[in-house]
Amino acid sequence: MPPASSAPLPNDLEAYWMPFTANRAFKKSPRIVASAKDMHYYTADGKPILDGTAGLWCCNAGHSRDKIVQAIQAQAAELDFAPPFQFGHPKVFALAARIAALAPGDLDHVFFGNSGSEAVDTALKIALAYHNIQGQGSRVRLIGRERAYHGVGFGGGAVGGIPGNRKAFGALLAGVDHLPTTYNRAEQAFTKGEPEWGGHLADELEKLVALHDASTIAAVIVEPMSGSTGVLPPPKGYLQKLRAICDKYGILLIFDEVICGYGRLGYAFAAERYGVVPDMITFAKGITSGTVPMGGVLIRKPIYEAFMKGPELAVELTHGYTYSGHPLACAAGLATLDLYKEEGLFERARKLEPVWADAVHGLKSLPNILDIRTVGLTAAIDLAPIADAPGKRAFGVMDKAFHELDLLTRIAGDSIILTPPLIISEGQIGEIVEKTGKAIAALA
Ligand SMILES: Cc1ncc(COP(=O)(O)O)c(C=O)c1O
Repeated sequence: MPPASSAPLPNDLEAYWMPFTANRAFKKSPRIVASAKDMHYYTADGKPILDGTAGLWCCNAGHSRDKIVQAIQAQAAELDFAPPFQFGHPKVFALAARIAALAPGDLDHVFFGNSGSEAVDTALKIALAYHNIQGQGSRVRLIGRERAYHGVGFGGGAVGGIPGNRKAFGALLAGVDHLPTTYNRAEQAFTKGEPEWGGHLADELEKLVALHDASTIAAVIVEPMSGSTGVLPPPKGYLQKLRAICDKYGILLIFDEVICGYGRLGYAFAAERYGVVPDMITFAKGITSGTVPMGGVLIRKPIYEAFMKGPELAVELTHGYTYSGHPLACAAGLATLDLYKEEGLFERARKLEPVWADAVHGLKSLPNILDIRTVGLTAAIDLAPIADAPGKRAFGVMDKAFHELDLLTRIAGDSIILTPPLIISEGQIGEIVEKTGKAIAALA
């Protein structure tokens, strides 16, 4: 029995301007889900749709899990809101401590926002403010990477590396530069996990330091595994090298783990998988398994302590959001972390990684496949674009999978992205791969 949906299907879709969506195409042929439980969405007429994307990389514990639902319901009745500036509530301190305990090294302070975009902009601002209070106010430059996605704020947009997300929005932030992407199909095609080739690309940071001078560079931000632009795992040794170069020049290293965090790569954070402790980690999505918006930044102890100086009544960081550490998000976050632990979901993702990789790479012989990449419980399948219609083949696969094969997939350009909840069974892995294969074959 699908969980009942209380909302009738709307007659008029016009008023809603949908984010990152082809609005006109959608409204002609809508893909609407009305309820969800565990591994499935359900349409309004009760048809189950297998969730191949954990919503949008976020429902790592699966959907509408009882424990999380009950925690949110109880919290709404007990304390709906508490002002986060100059006041607190018990669960925000508890959640910060729980997140810090999951993080490696001395990443032991947490600043909360409501999304990945806010987390990224917060981390960039903390980096700038940190250098300022250290007497190094000339360090204003921020370094991102080609093919990075860091959300849609002016800061995250500027350090991001997706031309289509940048070109309509003017100069975004000044003083930003980019490392080259680590992806090279000729060298890396059909790799499971981290490619052997590409670790040397971290040395490109040396070139940017030579060009701009270290005294002008505040921070480097990278996704350990670039998710949104098509699952690009870091080449072996790359992140370790970046860490060493940042240390050499006093540049802060930020890992954007909005996707990588909370089990996606088999660990609480990718920093643990790769044995690299960055200066800050941004997170969102999986912290509440997507149930209530929440994002945040993990910050190393010396950075936090650098701010804790001066008059005791002075606000140390003039930054924050009305909904920073919202009680509903904190209740959801605590229940989600409990569930991850009780069900061993990070370890489960690690154990399933080879099963997942073998299954998805089994699609290699289908027509029009240019590359398949897998790491953790995530995969990208690059399809050959149709001449003069980039993105059309992958869009067709996504649309067919939803309407005809009852599977939710995601696309980035002509790549199909699969990134299921961590509760997935081996049988459901087979189902996702079989249906994806059918949709790809049909669009050949
Ligand atoms: C690495 C990364 N950073 C930031 C964001 C932005 O998160 P949000 O959409 O919650 O603002 C995303 C979203 O997918 C992301 O993947």
